[in-house]
Amino acid sequence: MKLSEEQKMIRNIAREFAENELLPGVIERDKSALYPKVQIAQMQNLGFLGMTTDPRYGGGGMDILSYVLVMEEISKIDASCGVIISVNNSLVCWGLEEYGTEEQKEKYLRPLASGQMLGAFCLSEPEAGSDATSQNTTAEDKGDHYVLNGIKNWITNGKYADIYLIIAQTHPEKGHHGINAFIVEANSEGLTTGEKEDKMGIRSSDTCSVLLNEVKVPKENRIGEDGFGFKFAMNTLNGGRIGIAAQALGIAAGAYERALAYSKERKAFGVPISHHQDVAFKLADMATLLEASRLLVYEAAQDKDAGRPYDISSSIAKLYAAEAAMKITTEAVQIHGGYGHVREYHVERMMRDAKITQIYEGTSEIQKLIISRSILR
Ligand code: CAA
Repeated sequence: MKLSEEQKMIRNIAREFAENELLPGVIERDKSALYPKVQIAQMQNLGFLGMTTDPRYGGGGMDILSYVLVMEEISKIDASCGVIISVNNSLVCWGLEEYGTEEQKEKYLRPLASGQMLGAFCLSEPEAGSDATSQNTTAEDKGDHYVLNGIKNWITNGKYADIYLIIAQTHPEKGHHGINAFIVEANSEGLTTGEKEDKMGIRSSDTCSVLLNEVKVPKENRIGEDGFGFKFAMNTLNGGRIGIAAQALGIAAGAYERALAYSKERKAFGVPISHHQDVAFKLADMATLLEASRLLVYEAAQDKDAGRPYDISSSIAKLYAAEAAMKITTEAVQIHGGYGHVREYHVERMMRDAKITQIYEGTSEIQKLIISRSILR
């Protein structure tokens, strides 16, 4: 795919940043589940937190493909940093820019897009993961404000967010047409966060529950018309899935590059292991999966950039890239043999990190549901 000079430049900036600033501490951050506070501040300076937001609101004004290129480079080295910026860019900033009022954009989007604030997107609940229409969190309409009660689960940036976009049910009798989305400030009375989750992968990103106990939210903080919340969540997730597909692509690319380099250095039976056909064929399969993922992810980004529908292309890209990332990282560990199983060689972390891309922002099974419904419609 032909990239513009500007796209190549932003990719190089991200690549250099990831190699110089993310690589040195990535193993330790994973091991101790340490939130990358310093690195997030550095990414704020580079403008990676609100990349596609209009400069009028403090963003970078870039296209989605540039955002995808940055996600790929960051996730190649540190997928935890990848998800932190993905949520802020595509679930929080994009949603506010597309559907927020002018006042909401001035008050919340501006600091979020410039990275002075961090955002979180709260849809999932203990009993509403894939089945997202079954929202148990309630938002009672009290005239000039709403009162929110409930629990949100597995929230990325949960403890560090300044702003939460919270999905909640106002009119249960209307099903998903009764759901609303709200902008909720972290210091709101009654909002607390649960324990940080001890995860298999993306360990240094912050994930926890968000608990809402009689949280008052002004009416002007509702996003869109009454009952627009579920559509807001779905439309926002369509773009979010491009970000996660790019994260999966980056993880896979990182593992593939390490496996390729290792296969040329490591000798067995008198020759580099890449000379053994079984390893060479593994590498060929990995390269093919990687290239196909890249084409699908870039294509979904270009659909969004061109104003074409991208709900299905984003699901296809996420499904394919996540499944490919799991296969590629698993083979990368295999090629490394015993070394692949220890932290120092990075690929075992990449294999653990790849797993979540098959789960969050819609599991692989949910992507298949969305794709199959569209082709059978
Ligand atoms: N784009 C736009 N609208 C969509 C949509 C999409 N991709 N998918 C569904 N909708 C709309 C439908 O058109 C329908 O609207 P109308 O009734 O107005 O026509 C409405 O949503 C409900 O859809 P369905 O009738 O198909 O409802 P369903 O219950 O059968 O299926 C679902 C809904 C597609 C399974 C949905 O619940 C879903 O996407 N689930 C996955 C949830 C998810 O991705 N969660 C991620 C959590 S966020 C996260 O992980 C962030 C993080 O921190 C990293």
